[in-house]
Amino acid sequence: MKILSIETSCDETAVAILECTGDITEASFKILGNALYSQAEKQAEFGGVYPSLAKREHQANLVPLATQALEEASMLSIREDDDSEIPEDVFKNVRDEEFKQSILTFLKENAKPEVDMIAVTRGPGLEPALWTGINFAEAFSRAWGIPLVGIDHMEGHVVSALLKPVGREQGAESSQKTATYNLQPIKLPLMALLISGGHTELILMKEWFEYRAVGRTRDDAVGEAFDKVARLLSLPYPGGPKIAELAAESREKGGENPFSFPSPMTSGPTCDFSFSGLKTAVLYTMKKIDGLSDTEREHIAEAFENAAKDALVIQTRKALRQDTAETLAIAGGVSANKTIRGAFRELVKKEFPQVTLMVPHKSLTGDNAIMIGAAAYLRKTAGKISANGIQAAGKLRLETLP
Ligand code: KG4
Ligand code: ZN
Repeated sequence: MKILSIETSCDETAVAILECTGDITEASFKILGNALYSQAEKQAEFGGVYPSLAKREHQANLVPLATQALEEASMLSIREDDDSEIPEDVFKNVRDEEFKQSILTFLKENAKPEVDMIAVTRGPGLEPALWTGINFAEAFSRAWGIPLVGIDHMEGHVVSALLKPVGREQGAESSQKTATYNLQPIKLPLMALLISGGHTELILMKEWFEYRAVGRTRDDAVGEAFDKVARLLSLPYPGGPKIAELAAESREKGGENPFSFPSPMTSGPTCDFSFSGLKTAVLYTMKKIDGLSDTEREHIAEAFENAAKDALVIQTRKALRQDTAETLAIAGGVSANKTIRGAFRELVKKEFPQVTLMVPHKSLTGDNAIMIGAAAYLRKTAGKISANGIQAAGKLRLETLP
C-alpha cells in the first residue's frame, strides 16, 4: 500500500510517500519520497510561531513539496487528458486564490499517481495551519478519487519512537529516498512521554490506539520553556538545540554551577507538569545580574536544562510506578535532547529494567510527514480508521480518539 502523507500542524511543511507492508506486529515503511521545509528561520523573527505566517508559508510550499516528493518517488507523469476540466468542488474549502491556482496547475499538468491513501494531520496544532494541509489533501483526494484519512499529530509522534531505520543510514534531514523504517516489536502497555513545542504529556496506550491521559502540562510545554528561556538568553528560535549547546559547554568546562532552579510539580501526587514557573525563576535570576557573562549564560542554560530534565524524569517515574508499562516511548522535538535521553536511559536501567525504552531516530524527532503516513497505515491495518469528514481540531487529545 502506498500512502501520500501531509503534515502542516505547526511550522514544518512536509509531504512524504511511503510504501507500507506487513501488519501491526511487523510493519515496514519504505520512504519513496520525503520533502520537508522548516519555517523556523522565518518564524525566528517573532521568537515563536505566528499562525497566519505559518498558514501563508504552508500555502506557498505545499505544491512544490508534493511535486518534489512525488518526483523522488518517480510517481509524476504528464496528464494525458489535459483538456478535461477539474471539477470546482475539488477546491471546496480552498479560499486563497493563489493557493487554489497552484493546486489547479499541478492537477492539470500531472496524472494521478499510484497512491492508495492520503493521510493528513488533523490536530492538535495551529488551526489555520492544520486547515491548509487538510484543504490541500482534500483537493487531491477529490480530484484523484483517493481515500483520505485524518491523523492525530501526537499519535504520529508516538509511532515515530517505534520506527527504526534499516539498511543504508540516511543523512540527518536531507532526502530519505532510500530509507526504510521498520516498526519495532513492542510489548504493551506503552507509556508515552510526548515532549514538544506545544505539548508535554504522559499517555498510556494499553492496546493499540487506546489511550488514557496520565499527566499533562498545566501551562507551558517543555519545548516552549526551552524556547522562552532561549529568548531570555538572546538565543534564536527554536531555542531547544541552542540551550542544549550552551549547557553542554558548561558541563564540559566543569566547575561549580552557582545556579539551580526548582523542578515544578514534582513533589505533589499528580503526574502533571508545569513549566511557566521555571521560566519565571530563570527570568528573576537574570534580572539580579548586571550584564551576563558568557559563563553565566552557560551556567543558566545548564541549570535550566537540568531542572526541565528532572521534572520530566520525576513525573515519568511516578507514572511508571502508578501504571504498569512494558515500553516507555519518548517522542516530540524535545526528545532530541541528549541530556534528557541520557537521563531516561539511566532511569530505565536502574529503576525499571523490565521496561524497554524507545526513542525516535534523529531524522524523526521533529515534525515530519513520515510519522503521519506510518500512523495512518498502522490504523488502516488494525481496522481503526474512522471515515468521517476531516475537520481541523487544534486541541485534539489522544484519549478522545475513536
Ligand atoms: O515536535 P516539534 O518539532 O514541534 C511541535 O510539534 O511542537 O518540537 C519543537 C520543539 C521546540 O520547542 C524546540 O525548541 C524543541 O522541540 N527542541 C529541543 C531540542 N530540539 C528541538 N528542545 C531541547 N533540546 C533539543 N535538542
Ligand atoms: Zn510535533
